[in-house]
Amino acid sequence: MISANDLRVFSRMIGESNASVTGWTRSRSSFRETLDAIDTYNRAPSPESLRFIEMCLDRLPGGKKLQYVSAFRQLKMTLAMEKIMLESREQVRRLAENSFRVTSDSQEYTNSFGSAFTNALASMTASSRWLDGGAGEARAMIAYLDGGGKGQCIATGYQIPTTAAPSVRAAKEKYPDRFDYVSGKYFSGISDAELHLERGKFDLITDLNGVMYYTQTLVEDLKRYLSLLKVGGVLVFTSIQVEIDMPNATNHDPRQVPDLARWMSNITGINVTRSRRTGSYTLVKNSDDINVPHLNVITYEIRQGRNDPLRKYSCNSPLAIHPVIT
Ligand SMILES: C[S@@+](CC[C@H](N)C(=O)[O-])C[C@H]1O[C@@H](n2cnc3c(N)ncnc32)[C@H](O)[C@@H]1O
Repeated sequence: MISANDLRVFSRMIGESNASVTGWTRSRSSFRETLDAIDTYNRAPSPESLRFIEMCLDRLPGGKKLQYVSAFRQLKMTLAMEKIMLESREQVRRLAENSFRVTSDSQEYTNSFGSAFTNALASMTASSRWLDGGAGEARAMIAYLDGGGKGQCIATGYQIPTTAAPSVRAAKEKYPDRFDYVSGKYFSGISDAELHLERGKFDLITDLNGVMYYTQTLVEDLKRYLSLLKVGGVLVFTSIQVEIDMPNATNHDPRQVPDLARWMSNITGINVTRSRRTGSYTLVKNSDDINVPHLNVITYEIRQGRNDPLRKYSCNSPLAIHPVIT
């Protein structure tokens, strides 16, 4: 909702810039269409009705935009804030409803991540740790434990799908020290204690169309994953669509190498490999000295009819290193 207070400030600014001798009235105002669009939006907030307000505002003649410049700017700012709120509410709704596939099993994890995943699992001992970021029903993890796997496992997800509540509860009871499911919050809000970090960092982190696929805080979540990984540990995640404008990445061909792959391979302390066949990424941590080239956020937008958001960034750092593509 665009608040009554924001509207009051906006109307006051219009009134102050109004030059007519008879005073400002909504019915005669050039902002009438915009104000009607705001009413429509407030009755049923949606990305479409928000976009319509922007359209009305953009349609104002240039002269009016100049005359009412402060009101115009104020409303643009309000709309930008509203857009962020709407996006995150929509994201929470989708995550809470689990309105996407949450049932991947061990075979799907193996198909997506190949030998980086199977080798890491095979070498896990009782002190090894596996974290799944965005685990859905946590089928692969529970199957690993049921199959005799010795490692300690933590699944995470915004909400445990109702279909999986019984199996997750049963696994927690069966493996009290070796299985946990942290839910009810974004990954970025999970504390070290909830991840039992006192037991050590993780040998394996998986993310199959999970956190990285949806998150609004991509860089922060990637940094968190890398900080949670042991030196020698492996992070695997499925292909995600991210556009990065990189003026200082010489000889970069985005048709051959995704922007994300090029940017990530310039993070210090890791080796990056991308699979051409599956699009998945394998990041092996080789040092605790992690340094991430700064990304400026340009866009994060929830898309209608698609699960993944539109994410655009820019990066001005020199990105000399190319990823390994297999
Ligand atoms: C498409 S499901 C995939 C689940 C599972 N990996 C599978 O393939 O069956 C996405 C999962 O990621 C979780 N998720 C996505 N973004 C998240 C975030 N920012 N914080 C916490 N969980 C997130 C969702 O709650 C859900 O469990």
